[in-house]
Amino acid sequence: MMTITLQVNNSHHTISVAPRESLADVVRERLGLTGTHLGCEHGACGACTVSVDGNATRACNILGVMCEGRSIVTIEGLRDDPVADVLRRHFHEQHALQCGFCTPGMLMMARDLLLRSHELDESAVRKGLSGHICRCTGYSGIVNAVLAAAREMQLAKATQTRNEMLLDTSSLPV
Ligand code: FES
Ligand code: FES
Repeated sequence: MMTITLQVNNSHHTISVAPRESLADVVRERLGLTGTHLGCEHGACGACTVSVDGNATRACNILGVMCEGRSIVTIEGLRDDPVADVLRRHFHEQHALQCGFCTPGMLMMARDLLLRSHELDESAVRKGLSGHICRCTGYSGIVNAVLAAAREMQLAKATQTRNEMLLDTSSLPV
């Protein structure tokens, strides 16, 4: 066993892990964060996606011992996250989930895509989610939800910029 210290969802943890344990096993079995799902366990389905130092990462494909000193965010850590909040609402409205098994990984990756670019088109969303397997939905609802979230965030950003400009103008001397 080896002792590692890592930050998970803004809490520090020092835990003993076997060198062969994946990060997915560490968060699920050692920390009880079972929102990270395990499907294929070899990097093919995307169900286990978490954020490692701000990058969407397949937790079955990285060893826990490789995460010494790193910052991990799992789906449980996005409870109060504003981007995840927008995504959750649109997933609900667009019927983007059925059994929900793929959903934590889809949300983690969709959030990653939105943080990198709000100006996503359908092709970019489909490409971004292409490593995620959903056995239920046929994907259209998921793609529509991410596009709707991107539009909402783009609009919010445009409104904020406009308000800032108006504020600037109103403070000019007449
Ligand atoms: S369980 Fe990790 S990619 Fe499928
Ligand atoms: S909603 Fe069932 S696997 Fe995607």
